Amino acid sequence: MQHLISIHDLDQDQIREIFDLAADLKARQHRGEEHRLLAGKTLAMIFEKPSTRTRVSFETGMAQLGGHPLVLNAGDTQLGRGETIHDTAKVLGRYVDGIMARTFAHETVLDLAKYGSVPVINGLTDLLHPCQGLADYFTIQERFPDLGDVTVSYVGDGNNVTHSLLYGAAKLGCDIRVATPPGYEPIADVIATAKRDAEATGATISLTHDPKEAVDGVQVIYTDTWTSMGQEDEAKQRRKDLAGFQVNQAMLGAAAPEAIVMHCLPAHRGEEITDEVMDGPQAAVWDEAENRLHVQKAIMVLLMRD
Ligand code: CP
Ligand code: NVA
Repeated sequence: MQHLISIHDLDQDQIREIFDLAADLKARQHRGEEHRLLAGKTLAMIFEKPSTRTRVSFETGMAQLGGHPLVLNAGDTQLGRGETIHDTAKVLGRYVDGIMARTFAHETVLDLAKYGSVPVINGLTDLLHPCQGLADYFTIQERFPDLGDVTVSYVGDGNNVTHSLLYGAAKLGCDIRVATPPGYEPIADVIATAKRDAEATGATISLTHDPKEAVDGVQVIYTDTWTSMGQEDEAKQRRKDLAGFQVNQAMLGAAAPEAIVMHCLPAHRGEEITDEVMDGPQAAVWDEAENRLHVQKAIMVLLMRD
């Protein structure tokens, strides 16, 4: 593993290695044991978009590993004045041991990896959110140890998070149903790639426009915002088009009795998810947010330790 750009680039053994180390780091963290596996290392974190979880979990995680996190808001760097990604990647590679980037264009993260000399971690692009997807399957596995027995139902806008969930399901042999309104489907190329990957693991990937059909009897209902970062101008139309895709108590009643509800957060309470569900006993969202920390620490250790 040289970079973490997409779950599609990983094989199942690599994902298992991340999960095993994440579980070990989580246990050590909870016992209060020191685990300075990246002492002396620096991670630069480039943000073109806002963040709470990604910033805090990477920054805290790097500190817990004994390393130094460096937050770079793109607009405060020379990137904001037109210095190229090519030159920025080359320069950063002379100072730091790894780069985490949250960008609009997916190509920006690919270029950081192409031109820089250090590992690059994708902290969300318009196309993918792999750290989220990995933390999500780690969280699901904590509740349902055999992912082969699990069906995940993603309900809402087919977006970057959906794409990473599709890739993760395909690699891990977990069934996934995606329900979106017409016009809000995941992109066709991602679906086709995930379906190809799924042939090796036996995962079933299905798409529908009927949320009821998607959640029937499933172990996991997952949703995300209807308006992702960069789509703010479309918010009003999206609220209208996605209104029938809210995760509420009635929808949850159609899932398996032991079902959990997941959301990458930030949530828009009253839109894609109700207060009742977010604050209810079946919500796994806070564990899910915590697991970003442990899974990303594992990723950093695997990519950056000597
Ligand atoms: N889920 C997630 O990536 O949250 P942030 O946008 O707060 O980083
Ligand atoms: N799909 C959302 C995820 C936020 C973590 C977005 O891109 O804004």
